[in-house]
Amino acid sequence: RGIPKYVTPLPVPRTMPRDLGGPDADEYAVAVRQFRQQVLPRSLPPTTVWGFGSAAHPGSFRYPGPTIEARAGRPVRVTWLNQLLDRRGRHLPHLLPVDPTLHWANPAGGDEGRDHAGHFRRTPGPYLGPVPIVVHLHGGHNRQESDGHPEAWYLPSCRDLPSGYARYGSSYREFGDRYADYRGTRWSPGAATVEYANDQRATALWYHDHALGLTRLTMYAGPIGLYLLRGGDADLPPGVLPGPATGAATGPADGSARGHHEIPLVIQDRSFTADGSLHYPASRAEFDGRPGRYAPETDVPPMWHPAVFADTIVVNGRTWPVLEVERRRYRFRLLNGCNSRFLLLSVAAHPTARPARPAVPFWQIGSDGGLLPAPVRLGKLPLGGGSRVDAVVDFSDVPAGTELYLVNEGPDGLPGRPGEDFEPADPDTTGQVLKLVVTEATGPDRSVPPDQLDLPSSRPLGPAERVRRLSLNETMSASPGAGPVAALLGTVDRDGRAVPLRWNAPVTETPRLHGTEVWEFHNFTPAAHPIHLHQVQFELVGRGPTGQQPPGPAERGWLDTVAVFPGEVTRIKARFDLPGRFAWHCHLLEHEDNEMMRPYDVVPSGG
Ligand code: C2O
Ligand code: CU
Repeated sequence: RGIPKYVTPLPVPRTMPRDLGGPDADEYAVAVRQFRQQVLPRSLPPTTVWGFGSAAHPGSFRYPGPTIEARAGRPVRVTWLNQLLDRRGRHLPHLLPVDPTLHWANPAGGDEGRDHAGHFRRTPGPYLGPVPIVVHLHGGHNRQESDGHPEAWYLPSCRDLPSGYARYGSSYREFGDRYADYRGTRWSPGAATVEYANDQRATALWYHDHALGLTRLTMYAGPIGLYLLRGGDADLPPGVLPGPATGAATGPADGSARGHHEIPLVIQDRSFTADGSLHYPASRAEFDGRPGRYAPETDVPPMWHPAVFADTIVVNGRTWPVLEVERRRYRFRLLNGCNSRFLLLSVAAHPTARPARPAVPFWQIGSDGGLLPAPVRLGKLPLGGGSRVDAVVDFSDVPAGTELYLVNEGPDGLPGRPGEDFEPADPDTTGQVLKLVVTEATGPDRSVPPDQLDLPSSRPLGPAERVRRLSLNETMSASPGAGPVAALLGTVDRDGRAVPLRWNAPVTETPRLHGTEVWEFHNFTPAAHPIHLHQVQFELVGRGPTGQQPPGPAERGWLDTVAVFPGEVTRIKARFDLPGRFAWHCHLLEHEDNEMMRPYDVVPSGG
């Protein structure tokens, strides 16, 4: 198609400007705003996006947002501000079409779009009101009032709030009051102040919107960013791994990658219209050709899509960028920020040919929860939605002038059972990610070769005090052939049958505070799902038809999101040491937004 590839240099998100460094915490005021950014190459129009930036530094707003640099043991306090407002302080409508029939963060009320039979309660019109936002730090070990609960959303503090609209979600006031108890601060209109403890292993976390039933659309519009936690026992001393350029890590503008040997890669798929706007399919008909209807007698959401696969790859907010790499080692901090797509990445000598052997291997050194027990050499790197991988790639033996390509062999659809054949992504579009041009090294490489790295150990969890059997489900329309109407989580009954439950069904998972549990995910659907738990980093215990196959070496570290394959049982183990209400969900955003999310409560006595 008409988007030229490999003409824009890969930018490296700059460090979030810090407002105040109090004696006990780093403090930030971070807002989400609407602006235009050159996501496409300069020969094409700019794109209207949403992104984060430091509220006091108007030049810092970017998609993806600036990276928050945090130190282990030192808390970070952020006031997140919803500033989706025009110049006159009036609210901006959503950039993308909202499906008002889902159960979503609807400020106009009517919490539940459907009745018990699954039929729509009313014929909704398009939603043009203010956009609710709530920010979650994905992978963070944080108290419930700082977690970014999907119902703790808040509107921008706009002058034109339609009458009868709620400014906050049901959990906002409750959490705001609780936060006031221990900090003496109050949440204010259009904002929430939270504290991230940073009492966990050094790793790459990320922040993103989490408003109920809107996350797929809001995140598609851009508000995400990285949060790099460094230091402490679980990190390596500076210099052992390839690092960011010294002294270049601050400042409001997007930086060039020059001098950086540690490079974040936030990989997403997006579609664009000819005028440069983001395109998200507006009606169900665009997905499967079945016309969407608002008719009350149907149970099919007219706009929601079971999964979305866009046709263009965007890395760090630019389509198909190019990166010059010196003949030395690099550390890549990868994040799959796609709505639905599972990636399978490798470094190839050609943009479209797919030889079995990679041009250069990855050395995976870390997963969601920090460094692995040992480096793992991988030709192909699987990366599901929401997951992070820390990997070293060594270009020292590649002749200068060589052109390499980061390519994707994941499907333009959802993978099925492991080992089952799927068609890899279109080699001309979504099968390509990033071009790498190798240049001579400008200085010596003092980092330790990946096969000689001695990574910090971590203590495995003790025995589990209970096992929970949970299900992944899909519900189909009552009208034959009309397709899926929702994706759900749930429990498994004594006879091994799934009991699907919606988000607002009573809580069924109530781990004991400080208890260690095994959660077994039984996948009753035909597709793989990336399952994510808030609060914890967990161990993968086993996979396979009965959950007895041990994890491979790259999955022996800490995870907060795990691919759960169809027809299999995936067993994880976690220790729940923060009390209160949290969420677990499918990180395929279209599923998360349409019921594939459940609350869980950590309680003193368990049950
Ligand atoms: Cu990245 Cu609950 O999500
Ligand atoms: Cu799912």
